[in-house]
Amino acid sequence: MAIEETGENPIKNEGDIVTCRKLIRNVATTAGFGMTDVTRIVTAVSELARNVYVHAGSDGVMRWQLLYQPGKIGIQLVFEDYGKGIPDIDQAIEAGFTTAGTMGMGLSGVKRLMDEMHIQSELGIGTTITVAKWGRAK
Ligand SMILES: Nc1ncnc2c1ncn2[C@@H]1O[C@H](COP(=O)(O)OP(=O)(O)OP(=O)(O)O)[C@@H](O)[C@H]1O
Ligand SMILES: [Mg+2]
Repeated sequence: MAIEETGENPIKNEGDIVTCRKLIRNVATTAGFGMTDVTRIVTAVSELARNVYVHAGSDGVMRWQLLYQPGKIGIQLVFEDYGKGIPDIDQAIEAGFTTAGTMGMGLSGVKRLMDEMHIQSELGIGTTITVAKWGRAK
């Protein structure tokens, strides 16, 4: 079966979070990630898609791409919104920091679950969070 190498899904309503999860579960499983890594990746998708929905104050989009290196398979996920932005990125990543009165564990969790995380944000312009996970090619 041929696998698509790249795709995207909008994040506009709560149901889109579920759609993003299902999509990436499917993509990562088909790409050859093991069950444990698939769970990690899907958990990260959940947190990042929910952050767009809850915090951004705008629509957003999730883009995904499969990455190939000799002996390795990777998945890169980009969450982009056009919302209010994050004033202090280091603070936002700290475990327990929240502006919403929730747990404040989303971004710190994502950092732990994924191999790479990069946050770019501009106040009033939006936020782009890129994460990647690598596994052994089957
Ligand atoms: N896309 C975003 N746009 C604007 N602010 C964001 C965005 N993502 C995260 N933030 C800010 O970073 C803070 C920390 O995010 P994090 O996901 O760690 O915690 P939380 O969403 O507040 O709580 P939890 O994820 O545990 O329910 C948020 O409270 C919010 O202020
Ligand atoms: Mg969160």
